[in-house]
Amino acid sequence: MCDRIMGEILMIVAALGLVAAGEHHPVNVPAAERGRESVRKPLNPPFWSLRAYQEAWKRWGLAKKPADYDRAFRARYGLHPPLYENGGLPMGFTRPRGLLGLGQGLGNDCLLCHAGTVAGQTIIGLGNSALDMQSLYEELAAADGLDPIMPLPLCNARGTSEASNFAVYLMQFRDAELRHRLPVKYPLCENLCEDVPAWWHFRKKKTIYHLGVADSRSVRTLMPFLLILGNSAESIKEREPEFADIRAYLLSLEPPRYPYAIDRALAEQGKAIFEHTCVRCHGSYGAEDRYPNKLVPLEVIGTDATLAHAFAPEGVAHYLESWFAREHGPAGEPYHGLGGGGYQAPPLDGIWATAPYLHNGSVPTIYHVLKSSERPRIFTRSFRGDALEYDQRRVGLKFQTLPNAPDPSLPAIDRRKVYDTTQPGRGNRGHTFGDRLTEEERMAVVEYLKTL
Ligand code: HEC
Ligand code: HEC
Repeated sequence: MCDRIMGEILMIVAALGLVAAGEHHPVNVPAAERGRESVRKPLNPPFWSLRAYQEAWKRWGLAKKPADYDRAFRARYGLHPPLYENGGLPMGFTRPRGLLGLGQGLGNDCLLCHAGTVAGQTIIGLGNSALDMQSLYEELAAADGLDPIMPLPLCNARGTSEASNFAVYLMQFRDAELRHRLPVKYPLCENLCEDVPAWWHFRKKKTIYHLGVADSRSVRTLMPFLLILGNSAESIKEREPEFADIRAYLLSLEPPRYPYAIDRALAEQGKAIFEHTCVRCHGSYGAEDRYPNKLVPLEVIGTDATLAHAFAPEGVAHYLESWFAREHGPAGEPYHGLGGGGYQAPPLDGIWATAPYLHNGSVPTIYHVLKSSERPRIFTRSFRGDALEYDQRRVGLKFQTLPNAPDPSLPAIDRRKVYDTTQPGRGNRGHTFGDRLTEEERMAVVEYLKTL
């Protein structure tokens, strides 16, 4: 309701010819409103039939369909109730027109990965840290009587994604104009283990993605999500205006506020320590808001290097000569792929909500980000996103440490619930900047971060 009134006020402001000016980018309000709808549009022709949704439970080893089926379905795969009317389907599911006929097929949209639930609040723009995309795809395909051979894993550890690899893999089947071609193969890394960044950071970032490799002014850099083979070159390119709207929408997003009590005096102490120890990379907040957009070299950050080394030079070169990279700024300047060789220090607005932390989601709380010796080596969590999973003291997600890696005889869906930091792409080392703080100082910084 509130949202609608806000929307109307914004539309009126826009109609008067005014635009809301953000700190870093102006927001085009009508475009942002259209973009809000566009992130829920199908990315591809249907993958599955609607029947597969209704019958997936037959793959769960149950004798009969669970009574509260929609909820059971969401819990099994790490999906969330939609915040809008979605025909009874979970957030992230769409009903594209396509080969299977209007309305009978299912596909996905951006929100499959870019909406999540934390401390009992479902938030659009929060990375989905509960999703097991591998099980979702395999079991829905099986319910349709298919057994597709997946060329790449879609998910190695629940809550992480191999999303960048779809684009890299699928570009092999496209020429520079995005026309289909016989694949020109390049080596692929199968352990990206990417944590999905929060969309509300987009407005601050000059470069995006964990590696800081794309200019945030570019629209086309958001479009490789459309590369699935069923989309023609033309059908991808003609969606550029829609993605300009999506970009405007991303620029309009604000971080969610910490929902529990904050010890303001302690947070004030933490602010002083933060200014001393962290500002140079993460920027400052509040009145003196400033984000340095710093790309920190691997030798300095020391976090898992797999993602930074994942992309073969021939794949990168192919992307850079393709339609995606042929976009120019208002003054005719090209949007080069920038950065590489390290990880971008992200803005920390709304950081309370975005656990687990680091680019691979290997650290469950902010406290552990700031004390590397205490980080759990092998752990699991409830994936419920409710208040019980939320750790207010250490700020992040409660977890259970396990003595060993999961037994290989367990079903893969259960093994993926265990985060094993000894596995490739999942290392939890590095970012040791909080290690020298005393326990009191560390807790004060954690308290301060709740206020951002
Ligand atoms: C299959 C899951 C998935 C889907 C679907 C998806 N994304 Fe993402 N997205 C990711 C992952 C994972 C990353 C992090 C990649 C990285 O930085 O290496 C990401 C990163 C981004 C970023 C960069 C954020 C930042 O701060 O660096 C933007 C913007 C984004 N996605 C927009 C979109 C849009 C728009 C759509 C729909 C058209 C979409 N995504 C669909 C998984 C997904
Ligand atoms: C030298 C630069 C640098 C300094 C100093 C630094 N950080 Fe970071 N920080 C980074 C980078 C780079 C990342 C991302 C690393 C990765 O994902 O591999 C990061 C990640 C984080 C994250 C996780 C963000 C997320 O979304 O997962 C938090 C929280 C954080 N830093 C807090 C702090 C605090 C608090 C301090 C001060 C005690 C601090 N950092 C000091 C560079 C720095």
